[in-house]
Amino acid sequence: MSHLFGFRFELGRKFLFLTLIFLAVLATSCGGSGNDSIPTPDDPVVAKGFGIFKDHCASCHSLKPDTTIVGPSFVGLATRASTRMDGFSAREYLRLSIMKPDIYIVDGFKNLMPVNVAARFSDEEVDALISYLLTLE
Ligand code: HEC
Repeated sequence: MSHLFGFRFELGRKFLFLTLIFLAVLATSCGGSGNDSIPTPDDPVVAKGFGIFKDHCASCHSLKPDTTIVGPSFVGLATRASTRMDGFSAREYLRLSIMKPDIYIVDGFKNLMPVNVAARFSDEEVDALISYLLTLE
């Protein structure tokens, strides 16, 4: 997100961002080991996507290597996403995988991903989710 540090943010978002930084600093300075082994991403959009992932995707997709729950592990997802379908960028492939999961079925898996999973998300939420998935290199 190259515009992250731009000045074109509305005041509200800027405030939210600063609050998040403040909370992050606070959390770090408390020095707790944390009870979640997966750190929450710093970028607010990515963090939002991570929240959606945890609520709607983590039941089937692991963040540990080679771990199949129902669907494939997401380790390396951003890297392989650009090689899955000819002519589709990683972002385009991920969008398609979420909106129309039955268009591309990963080798060795069954067509078990719910086709309606994206129906409850706004465009903004889908974008945030994809931004998070693109960090999983
Ligand atoms: C009920 C289990 C289930 C849930 C919930 C689920 N998925 Fe999946 N997903 C699967 C399965 C099974 C596959 C492999 C078959 C296929 O390609 O559709 C898959 C495949 C994928 C792929 C392709 C992975 C690759 O290596 O190319 C992506 C991307 C993906 N899911 C994203 C998501 C996202 C994002 C969510 C949450 C919004 C989600 N899935 C929720 C079961 C699930």
